[in-house]
Amino acid sequence: MSHILPTDPQAPDPAAIAQAAALLLNGGLVAFPTETVYGLGADATDERAVRSVYRAKGRPSSNPLIVHAARTEEARAIADHWPDAAARLADRFWPGPLTIVLPRRIGTVHPAVSAHGPTVALRVPSHPVALALIQASGRPIAAPSANRSGHTSPTRAEHVVMSLGDAVPLILDAGPLPGGIESTVIDLSGARPRLLRPGLLSIERIEQLIGATERPEIRAASSDDGLRSPGLLTKHYAPNTPLILSSNIEAALEKYRNKERIGVITLQPVSPQVHATVIALPKNPDSYARELYHALHELDRAGLDRIIAELPPETDAWLGIRDRLQRAAA
Ligand code: TXA
Ligand code: MG
Repeated sequence: MSHILPTDPQAPDPAAIAQAAALLLNGGLVAFPTETVYGLGADATDERAVRSVYRAKGRPSSNPLIVHAARTEEARAIADHWPDAAARLADRFWPGPLTIVLPRRIGTVHPAVSAHGPTVALRVPSHPVALALIQASGRPIAAPSANRSGHTSPTRAEHVVMSLGDAVPLILDAGPLPGGIESTVIDLSGARPRLLRPGLLSIERIEQLIGATERPEIRAASSDDGLRSPGLLTKHYAPNTPLILSSNIEAALEKYRNKERIGVITLQPVSPQVHATVIALPKNPDSYARELYHALHELDRAGLDRIIAELPPETDAWLGIRDRLQRAAA
């Protein structure tokens, strides 16, 4: 069974941090809170520990991990060089929900962290418990989201238990997290900055600082029947219950009426007559992000046949959320 150590999010419990850091230094895994989602941490310099992260998640060893540091200087030491754009982004947004990909310096973290590629993803998180843990361990910490590969990320300790169970010996539980979706990943290893994953930090704020980035193609979200799921995207962030997206919830509900037990995630109140389990999420993207994964976990637990989620607006402020919904429905 995994051991759950509660801690105050603002004032990390020193005994809990010391116990977790000792486990990390011993090659063990620790699930810990960040400002985005719970991470599954391992000493990034320890090959065996890093391999056990991939194993615990069932993650292909070709998909690299993010390395977390407590300070910009420590992250910078893992990069082979530090371009001007990295300096500006780190100055403004670290600690915070931004991950920067750069060429990896040889002899720092173990190459397994990078799936043996030439680059490394670096992040300085802002959650006090994450910072305390990294500091106490004195090591860079490799940490993917603490869920089975391809599934919905955890924003509460109970989600970690539901997804990974016994594969995590220790969970630092700081309650529900403030961010709710993962960090934004920017690749600065090439000639031009590239957005690899939209996320909690809006791309608008990044581009204000470093200019236009190359963006991944995100397929048009709506269609005439309002029910298309974007088949070209690789499935990720997915609940166990089949998920479809719709720009017209009432029409989608009509289609499945009386045939299936349906869960709905909306931005609008839905008529109280509908026979569905409805979770209405806030219309503000930050508040929506905070609640989205919990809503997906709750609907998953309800044992429904299908979840229908309303498509959010197609603006940059919703980019990270639309990306998660589309991949979860893929
Ligand atoms: O908010 C977050 O970023 C959370 C918390 C725990 O920090 N972590 C997280 O890690 O979301 P994970 O492993 O679930 O997602 C990491 C993403 C993946 O899409 C991975 O492919 C990409 O970052 N990535 C990691 N290293 C990379 C590299 N060297 N080059 C390109 N992409 C990389
Ligand atoms: Mg993940």
